[in-house]
Amino acid sequence: MDNVQRVGISLESDLLERFDALILGQGYSSRSEAVRDLIRDRLTQSQLAQPQTEAIAAVFVVYDHHQAQLAQKLIELQHSHLLKTISSLHVHIAHDDCLEVILLRGSVSEIKKLGDHIVSLKGVKLGKVNLIATAD
Ligand code: NI
Repeated sequence: MDNVQRVGISLESDLLERFDALILGQGYSSRSEAVRDLIRDRLTQSQLAQPQTEAIAAVFVVYDHHQAQLAQKLIELQHSHLLKTISSLHVHIAHDDCLEVILLRGSVSEIKKLGDHIVSLKGVKLGKVNLIATAD
């Protein structure tokens, strides 16, 4: 790694023990890698708090496919937001239920609004909007 700086931090022993147990369970091979990921995650969360940040949203929706109006509405929403919709994936997860993952790209404010609208549609059993920032 280029341009790496070493830093020392002070932590209470019990806090460090709990952190080490956590990252060991997650499979980290070094404390440094775990701390780097924590910092990146914190920076990303800070970026996502800004409405104008460019981001990707993965919108998860579980619904009963017998709800024909809902399936139609999901298609219509994607067609009417062509520039924001990157892709979608449909999986038949049970006899009645389908999982749809819709990927949206745009500013946090735009895609969060659209994602929240999708998961709040009548007939959606489970819905979740996951955001990741695309800017550095
Ligand atoms: Ni299906």
